[in-house]
Amino acid sequence: MSIPVAKQYILDFEQLGLGMFVHWGLYSQLGRGEWIFALEKMNMDEYKNLAKTFTAEDFDAEQLALLAKEAGCKYITLTTRHHEGFSLYDTCGLNDFDAPHSPAGRDLIREFVDACNKHGLMPMFYHTTLDWYNKDFEENFDEYLEYLNKSVEVLCKNYGKIGGLWFDGNWSKPDSDWKVDALYATIRKYQPEAMIINNTGMVDPGHFGNIEIDSITFEQGKPTPMNREGMPKYIAAEMCHTLNDHWAYSADDLCYKSPVEIIQSLCDCRRVGANYLLNIGPEAQGRVNDFQKEQMKILGRWMHTFGEAIYNGRPCGAAGIDKNFILKSVDGKSLYLFIYDLAEVGDANVTVGGKYRGAYAFGGVNEEITNIKWMDNGEELSYIQGNGMLAVNLTGHPYGTVYPVRVAKADIK
Ligand code: GLC
Repeated sequence: MSIPVAKQYILDFEQLGLGMFVHWGLYSQLGRGEWIFALEKMNMDEYKNLAKTFTAEDFDAEQLALLAKEAGCKYITLTTRHHEGFSLYDTCGLNDFDAPHSPAGRDLIREFVDACNKHGLMPMFYHTTLDWYNKDFEENFDEYLEYLNKSVEVLCKNYGKIGGLWFDGNWSKPDSDWKVDALYATIRKYQPEAMIINNTGMVDPGHFGNIEIDSITFEQGKPTPMNREGMPKYIAAEMCHTLNDHWAYSADDLCYKSPVEIIQSLCDCRRVGANYLLNIGPEAQGRVNDFQKEQMKILGRWMHTFGEAIYNGRPCGAAGIDKNFILKSVDGKSLYLFIYDLAEVGDANVTVGGKYRGAYAFGGVNEEITNIKWMDNGEELSYIQGNGMLAVNLTGHPYGTVYPVRVAKADIK
């Protein structure tokens, strides 16, 4: 069985490698996650008053784009409308529960798209399909699907070329007919090359679904390698994570991930060719707090040095023991050797951690190599190869430097 030929826009998406997810809406004012309405069984007549205090005065799309860029992200996926039903975009009369009708008085998605375009980032639209605000969702589902379709049409018509739509919520009514053919046809009509993604949630990670779907999702998990043989279409994969344990701002969630976890998760994704979509949750009126900013910036420092391997590297079947693996560049001229857990040089009893130093073997390397260098300091590594084996002398981290994953680049003859 053969692997289907990929459409160019899907390959382009795969090469973006890293994206920034942003969960922000009325719920951010309560600071207890985006599910607060449902989990605390709130009343919509009260909840919707949050629109009256939504000023978005700290939302600065340009700063958001610059932060994403600094982190090494190539796209941003923003909640244009989450389950609460409030739209950050101008719904053009579909209802008044949107940012332009709130004290914000602005079309925040227009600002978002403009900032992304200005800074060379791809704007992606998260859009809920589950809706707690629109009564039709429970009472007249077909009517609701019309409203959803028209909402998506607004997003596809009014903002120029967009990266794609990231739907979330079909899992809430698994037995209903969501009429996805009609919804996806609306997208294709205006945005033939938009990525269509439909989050399969935590219950069904990696599930494919409709033929128009361009990427599968792995929510809060680890992506597994995809076997594309015999698939009806070549699709990408994306894994999303939060910086702590919530998507939207949660003032008392202190379970923040470390840079080690974040960088290693990113590499775990690239190992199987998946993108990593890392989420921040801006505060009430759109400010990103300092800690989240700092997390993104540390990721950026790593990306600044090793990003080339993340964007350009594709799975090639070569790997070492434990988590270490190899990617091959898109142009076929280089290999990237990803080393987790590298020890520091020197035998002084002052450094902790790190497992590898010295001779280390990879299997499945059939390319003839002409030299290998650490990407950060250009130090050359000695090696021998033959019969698909590559043995490299991994010098350790120089004292004073430790990377969660260190990458060496090998040139292919
Ligand atoms: C879930 C949640 C949602 C979040 C999403 C992100 O499906 O319902 O709140 O937006 O995952 O992946």
